[in-house]
Amino acid sequence: MAKEIVKPATGKLGIMVVGLGAVSTTFMTGVMMARKGLAKPVGSMTQYDKIRVGKGENKKYLHYKDIVSMPSLDDLVFAAWDVFPANAYESAINAEVLKEKDIEPVKDELLKIKPLKAAFDKNYAKRLDGDNVKQCKDRWDMTEQIREDIRNFKKETGVDRVVVLWAASTEIYVEPDMKYHGTIAALEQAMKDNVVDKVAPSMCYAYAALMEDCPFIMGAPNTTVDIPAMWELSEKTQLPIAGKDFKTGQTLVKSGFAPIIGTRMLGLNGWFSTNILGNRDGLVLDEPANFRTKEVSKLSTLESILVADNQPDLYSNYYHKVRINYYPPRNDNKEGWDNIDIFGWMGYPMQIKINFLCRDSILAAPLCLDLCLLMDLAHRAGRYGTQRFLSFFLKSPMHDYTRDEVPVNHLFQQYVMLKNAIREMGGYEADEEID
Ligand SMILES: NC(=O)c1ccc[n+]([C@@H]2O[C@H](COP(=O)([O-])OP(=O)(O)OC[C@H]3O[C@@H](n4cnc5c(N)ncnc54)[C@H](O)[C@@H]3O)[C@@H](O)[C@H]2O)c1
Repeated sequence: MAKEIVKPATGKLGIMVVGLGAVSTTFMTGVMMARKGLAKPVGSMTQYDKIRVGKGENKKYLHYKDIVSMPSLDDLVFAAWDVFPANAYESAINAEVLKEKDIEPVKDELLKIKPLKAAFDKNYAKRLDGDNVKQCKDRWDMTEQIREDIRNFKKETGVDRVVVLWAASTEIYVEPDMKYHGTIAALEQAMKDNVVDKVAPSMCYAYAALMEDCPFIMGAPNTTVDIPAMWELSEKTQLPIAGKDFKTGQTLVKSGFAPIIGTRMLGLNGWFSTNILGNRDGLVLDEPANFRTKEVSKLSTLESILVADNQPDLYSNYYHKVRINYYPPRNDNKEGWDNIDIFGWMGYPMQIKINFLCRDSILAAPLCLDLCLLMDLAHRAGRYGTQRFLSFFLKSPMHDYTRDEVPVNHLFQQYVMLKNAIREMGGYEADEEID
């Protein structure tokens, strides 16, 4: 019998989601449908994957819940904040991701999720025009109001623990600036001084979550918890943080496909990735300052897999470009094209084309579930700070850039890190044996 080293997942787990748009409502609806036995949580590692524990004759393959104590889907209680007042049912219908037949059976539950007023600043998402917004004196007050929301949610629902997940729009790019983001004290001062262009609303959510004993997950590419002040706060409060940006479509393909080129010692001249999508996310990303945040995140993937310093002949000069184009007719059904110019023996050029017709929120929903459950697990296991074992789920995994730490973007290396963390938390040995 494995030794249990994590606190058991007793009681209910609250999931407070920032943003009640396409991704969040698809996530919530799927969980509600699955617990009624009316849908399957396909794509979720925590619900489907089996990890080998033990070696040789003693090996066995177990679901996560049989290795470590995990909450069941029945234990999850949802709440959300949004700039628009639509409840989760209306928002799920508006998002047009799911068919009505997949929403109606859980209509009553969805109707009850009415968004709390958002901590919002229009300068961070110019294309959004909602009025379900908190009136705040300054960023400090904004944080205080969010903290109160979290405390009220705990009181009203009696949940045992809460995880806060950002699945709201991508904010404009905030360059880390050590004067304001270097320490907790500097960040708190910037909140009190209301330095609005350095303290994004998302930072207020993250700060509030950590102060209220909640792990925080950044599902968009926002800077938010990717600054030393937040790393320090997560150490001080002993809470886990994770980010950034759900790894769903094109970047998932990239982090799985680039290793083929790198393992086979083929060269790369260029990789051009372009997308069309027409949901509200696409509308926000049509604004150059918001797209910049996404671009930084999407560009980081290749450079740590195909590394020029390791193989100068193969990867010194490749051209990497990523575009996203807003195209309303496609709504949530994103289409991505990748053109990859590779070269082989004696430098002869070849091309690979990948055309991925995906559904953004269908790919993101299981990541929301897994990230929430695994962050709760990490917290119960006493882990804190950046949770690198969750890099598997993220496009731009957080790492300590002030110490030149390198992120792991290679999908299969990330998978080994994930499995080993689960093994260790279950009291088994980490290993690298091939399954
Ligand atoms: N779907 C994917 O594949 C995918 C992948 C990676 C990242 N993401 C990110 O996930 C996020 C959500 O995507 P989506 O398709 O659900 O977008 P969406 O536009 O449908 O929903 C986002 C919601 O967030 C709300 N919002 C914006 N700022 C807010 C704030 N400060 N407080 C509270 N609510 C706020 C908006 O009103 C909107 O309803 C985006 O940032 C997107 O970039 C999505």
